[in-house]
Amino acid sequence: MKALVTAARSNNLKPLTHTANKHLIPLANKPMIFYALEHIASAGIQDIGVIVSEDDTAVESAVGDGTRFGANITYIKQTGGALGLGHVVKVAKEFLGDEKFLLYLGDNIINDDLAPLVQQFEQSGANCLLSLARVPNPHRFGVPEIRDGKIVRVEERPVQPKSEYAVAGLYFYDSSAHLAAENIKPGFRGDYEISDIHTWLAQNGYNVQWAEIKNWWKDKGDPRDLLEGNKLILSAFTKSKQEGVIESSVKIEGEVEIGQGTRIGGKTLIRGPVSIAEYCLIKDSYIGPFTSLGNKVEMHGGNIEHSLVFDDASIVTPAKIVDSVIGAGSTISAKHFEMPEGNKIIVGENSNLAI
Ligand code: G1P
Repeated sequence: MKALVTAARSNNLKPLTHTANKHLIPLANKPMIFYALEHIASAGIQDIGVIVSEDDTAVESAVGDGTRFGANITYIKQTGGALGLGHVVKVAKEFLGDEKFLLYLGDNIINDDLAPLVQQFEQSGANCLLSLARVPNPHRFGVPEIRDGKIVRVEERPVQPKSEYAVAGLYFYDSSAHLAAENIKPGFRGDYEISDIHTWLAQNGYNVQWAEIKNWWKDKGDPRDLLEGNKLILSAFTKSKQEGVIESSVKIEGEVEIGQGTRIGGKTLIRGPVSIAEYCLIKDSYIGPFTSLGNKVEMHGGNIEHSLVFDDASIVTPAKIVDSVIGAGSTISAKHFEMPEGNKIIVGENSNLAI
């Protein structure tokens, strides 16, 4: 079985995606797409095609040839533009040949075991197996209509969802997917919708099965959604790797990962799960659960919880920061350091602040 992983650029999660491909945004200090690749490799699938935008080189530079995952990665350009996941199946046709394949969206985080799903697909003789997750807002996703336990149709972003399930970004197919891809037309978004492939298969006599997954995250377009993904990953932290220099005055509770070259001192309390990357400087600060700090982050007298801080940011304010996403190179300082008093803000396009 082969696997396809999507990594084409997308406009979701602005302003972060003005400068970075969403799939490379780090969650718990690892690019988002690494979780998909590790997950696939853990199920023994080694031949992986990664779909990238035509002019993109960043994904290949970050991911490499697959050796680090124990896999063999082929890069496939999505020529003609980002025309939807149905289009992804079309552009990957040559790579896939007639083999069965797993399509895994590189912006989904799935913590469920993959091997039992692979087994279910292999043993069921189904033409297609979809992963479904129960969500409070199915209208934002592809939604299956299930009758007598069978999927009869999948509707993309329906106004009136026919079930409480979303089709998550993990799908198995045999070669009938190529025939379906040839038979669908662009939908209301102008894209070749993957949901139309599923409906076509279900309505043309192919066997479309499903399996429920429980531990799933996918952003809904807002950068704050990243906090949920970060939390899902940090919740599964099992061992604390602590490198760097940690003074004896520092208190560390729970699962905390600290990268090399990081120095932590003073009256600092770190309450895990927390991930701190390399070469950070932290003094007299509180870092609370579900926080990730990138490389070379500086924190002096800071107080932060349930937040994501990217590389080279600095936090030098005692003001409590919660539920926040702080972009690379940003500075947050205490307002009384400068006159006149007031909130002094420089933010890029499409940012959002609550002050
Ligand atoms: C895509 C699919 C949708 C599916 C979702 C899962 O949506 O079109 O059917 O539920 O992935 O991640 P999009 O990535 O366009 O939001």
